[in-house]
This record gives sequence, C-alpha cells and structure tokens, in this order.
Amino acid sequence: MKKESRKVIIAGNWKMNKTPSETKVAVAETAKLTSGKCGCEVVLCVPFVDIAAATEAAKGTNVKIGAQNVHFKASGAYTGEISAAMLCECGVEYVIVGHSERRQYFGETDETVNLRTRAALDAGLKVILCLGEVLEQRQAGITEEIVSMQTKLDLAGIPAEQMKNVVIAYEPVWAIGTGLTATPEQAEEVCAMIRKVVAGLYTPEIAEALTIQYGGSMNDGNAAELLAKLDVDGGLIGGASLVPEKFAKIVDAAQA
Ligand code: 13P
Repeated sequence: MKKESRKVIIAGNWKMNKTPSETKVAVAETAKLTSGKCGCEVVLCVPFVDIAAATEAAKGTNVKIGAQNVHFKASGAYTGEISAAMLCECGVEYVIVGHSERRQYFGETDETVNLRTRAALDAGLKVILCLGEVLEQRQAGITEEIVSMQTKLDLAGIPAEQMKNVVIAYEPVWAIGTGLTATPEQAEEVCAMIRKVVAGLYTPEIAEALTIQYGGSMNDGNAAELLAKLDVDGGLIGGASLVPEKFAKIVDAAQA
C-alpha cells in the first residue's frame, strides 16, 4: 500500500478551550470552511461538555467529533471519569488517548493508556493514540527507544482486526505548544520508525494501512511540508485548530 491509499486525517485537539456556545459557532464555521475537502478526514476533539453542541453542529457536515480521553472501566465509582459507552451514545466517533498532557499532569502511564485504548476500541470508537519523546530524551539520543517502547506497550494485547480503528499521533513533547516544530525530516524519521515497529508487532500490511499523524506546533505555515513526507499521514493540531480559518488552511494543505 502506498501513502496515497492511506487515510489522511487532520484532527483538532481543542484541549481545555471553548464553551458549548463557542463550540457551536466554531464547529459550524470549520464545517463551512472545509466542506467538500474530501482529500482527508476532518475531526475536532472537544472537551466532554462540548460534545453535545459539537455533534449537533457537525450533523450533515464532513466534520467528525472526537473526545480527548476515556476511562477504561465500563461504569462504577470513578468520580470525574467518562466511559466509552457514554461517548458512543453521545455521537463521538474518535477519542484521543495518551496525550502527553494527560501523561505529564494526570499520571497517565503506558499501562493506563493501553487500558483506555482497549476499552475505547472494544466499544467501537476510533482511537488517536498519542506518543512521543520529551526534550531530554531527544537530547540523550534515545528517541527511537522511547517511542518504540511506547508503541509496544500502548498497543499490547490489541488484536490485529482492531488496528483499522487505531491512528497513531507522533507528538514530540518539546514541540507541543512551544512553536518549535519538528523538521519534516525529524517527523518522517520517527513516523517511519513507528510504522516499522507496528509491522513487527502485526504485519507489514497493517503497518502500511495505519494512519500516523504528526502533532506539535503544526500550523497553516508548516503543514504542507510536514504532510508531504511519506510516512506523515495527517496532523493532530492544538492551538491552530481553535481558529477555524487556520485549521481550514491545514485541511487545504492535506488536499494535495
Ligand atoms: P499545538 O499544536 O498547540 O502545539 O498542540 C499539539 C497537540 O498537543 C495536539 O494534540
């Protein structure tokens, strides 16, 4: 399979931004600006409380709605958490799992990331699994070891038939929200390495079909050159996804 036959996905991660009323406006605007752009899938991952407004505004458009986290238990005494079944019933199609901010500030480990991924896949959700090295690890020259280990631990026990619902987002932590983007060559090197690890865990065909996104200060100015790389099949965009005009330009860059 060639890059052209993989699904390109441009996803926004709004993080903790926008209220339901702001969501209604931003989703409608994003849908308007990206309508007819069928060269990629367009996803907006919104805060839990914005999901109802987002799915309503996205109805009948090409924008798909995602959440930013999911708990691994089906139900029970887990105050503040949200289950995969809850997300499904709310019309969510995608969920981000293992974002570096969850790992950094909320104690997520590869073990809980794996459990969340499995619960989401079992419920029929598509998972955007985030991984990536921190600056000290890159400087120490252990990016490959770290990312390869995360890939293996986070995908542990996930059957081959569920891999069609997995997207991996390579997000070097040092590039997130810093304005420091990985060079297209750095992004390509790690995305290609992740694909190789997935080929080893599953099959070359599954690895070739896998959408691997880059995330970290991607914007309308640098998206085209990142997306031109052979193993970069999309983007997970934070800051620039909050402004529909900027996000739509990234979607435009993915049409080539
Ligand atoms: P920024 O695009 O703001 O760097 O955020 C990237 C990110 O964390 C997406 O999940």
